Amino acid sequence: MEGYWNDRFNKEGMIWGEVPSKTVYHAIQIFKDNNVKSVLVPGSGYGRNTKALSAHFQVEGIEMSHTGISLALNWDPKSNFFLGSVLDHISGNKKYDAVYCFDLLHLFLERERHKLINNCIRQLNSAGLMYFTCFSNEDKNNGVGRKIEDGSYEYIEGKFAHFFTEEDLMNHFDGLQVIEIGTVVEILQYNDNQRKEYILRYIIVRKLDR
Ligand SMILES: C[S@@+](CC[C@H](N)C(=O)[O-])C[C@H]1O[C@@H](n2cnc3c(N)ncnc32)[C@H](O)[C@@H]1O
Repeated sequence: MEGYWNDRFNKEGMIWGEVPSKTVYHAIQIFKDNNVKSVLVPGSGYGRNTKALSAHFQVEGIEMSHTGISLALNWDPKSNFFLGSVLDHISGNKKYDAVYCFDLLHLFLERERHKLINNCIRQLNSAGLMYFTCFSNEDKNNGVGRKIEDGSYEYIEGKFAHFFTEEDLMNHFDGLQVIEIGTVVEILQYNDNQRKEYILRYIIVRKLDR
């Protein structure tokens, strides 16, 4: 996976252009309403979304691609970026008020998806918020290619993704308070002028104190 993303960022640079996802503006509003000051962004890529967040919050990104991080340091100098895998221990004992995670969750198989979510929960302050987006089962790529696991397909040769129903997404965040769940159409304007539309689901949850 690391080689794949290093290659892509090397060849394509800011793959999805400069415009952040509209979900980041939704997240900013909710984070502000909840007095969030610090945000962790797992799989921060070249900083497409951290740049919008870092105008309002203290932001740290964790990213496995060193090429992605080099681009991000230029594009979003206000955020801090760490090289590492979200599947390992994320950043010591540091805690954040919120997590924003755009289109990373669907890149993993079941065991790793739960690992990512649990690692993020561990980094949250009490009553912290998480905003995740992922591919919806209503997206046109769902069911395309070889089936790898329930709901997961190799929709491009050598690349698989998990496509979430609403129930499946809720189940992944079991034990957390669900604040909002919904669907959003993400239109990506690629660097090479291609325009692609993806149907995503998003979920906003709060960590419950136990
Ligand atoms: C689909 S891209 C989304 C990038 C970013 N969230 C955005 O919207 O611009 C997935 C990103 O997650 C990173 N990534 C994939 N697996 C990872 C892992 N295990 N740990 C940290 N980053 C990872 C990739 O290098 C890539 O930058």
